[in-house]
Amino acid sequence: MRRYLIAGNWKMNKTIQKACELVNGLATESKNINDVDIAVFPPFTALYEVYKITKETNIDLGAQNLWYETKGAYTGEISPEFIVDVGCKYVIVGHSERRKYFQEKDELINRKTKLAIEKNLIPIVCVGETLEQRENGETRKVIEYKINELENIDFSKIVLAYEPLWAIGTGKTATPEVAEEAHKFIRDLVQTKYGSEVASNIRILYGGSVKPDNVKILMNQPDIDGALVGGASLDVNSFMGIIKGSISL
Ligand code: 13P
Repeated sequence: MRRYLIAGNWKMNKTIQKACELVNGLATESKNINDVDIAVFPPFTALYEVYKITKETNIDLGAQNLWYETKGAYTGEISPEFIVDVGCKYVIVGHSERRKYFQEKDELINRKTKLAIEKNLIPIVCVGETLEQRENGETRKVIEYKINELENIDFSKIVLAYEPLWAIGTGKTATPEVAEEAHKFIRDLVQTKYGSEVASNIRILYGGSVKPDNVKILMNQPDIDGALVGGASLDVNSFMGIIKGSISL
């Protein structure tokens, strides 16, 4: 049985003080919630202070990115060992904003994913299509390509996130049917490549304008196992609304 994961990707938001205020609020409000996994992904600068709060709670911590080497002359980059050192369990890999603004390609994403697993982090690997690709009927082709590029990776050790680019930060959520179709397609691909046990256990999160008022209908779909939330994870009430909405189906 797959456990839902509700993950809050804070992106480039929150100073240390604001991050601690948010996570303190979440910790108080979620202390009796045990039916779902909860994780937050603050900016690097706030990770350690947030960890001091989350370590006593049922909220897990993750980083938004990592580098594909552990140390050396990589000015400005973050080693997976540093991420483990500040108490993270998860790391987001291949987010569409990294692909778009930092030209991250599948080969780099593959290396990052491998190293994350080697360092005992759980990578949340993001895949999704642009509006143009969807309109051209290329959604399946794009997803399949991205899954195939994750070669030599143990799919029992990763989480996947389907994030259609046209739904990120736009307020345009995929309809539950559209999202489910993509999630089922991804699970079927995983089944073909890695077998039914891996496919039935892998968590596939949906991301793209998830809000308290649409979370239930999305989570009701058989192949959606949680959410990767951007904007609505920046506020205690809206993120709690999503967490609570996901468990009261
Ligand atoms: P929004 O929830 O703001 O659309 O962002 C989704 C996302 O990119 C999560 O990683």
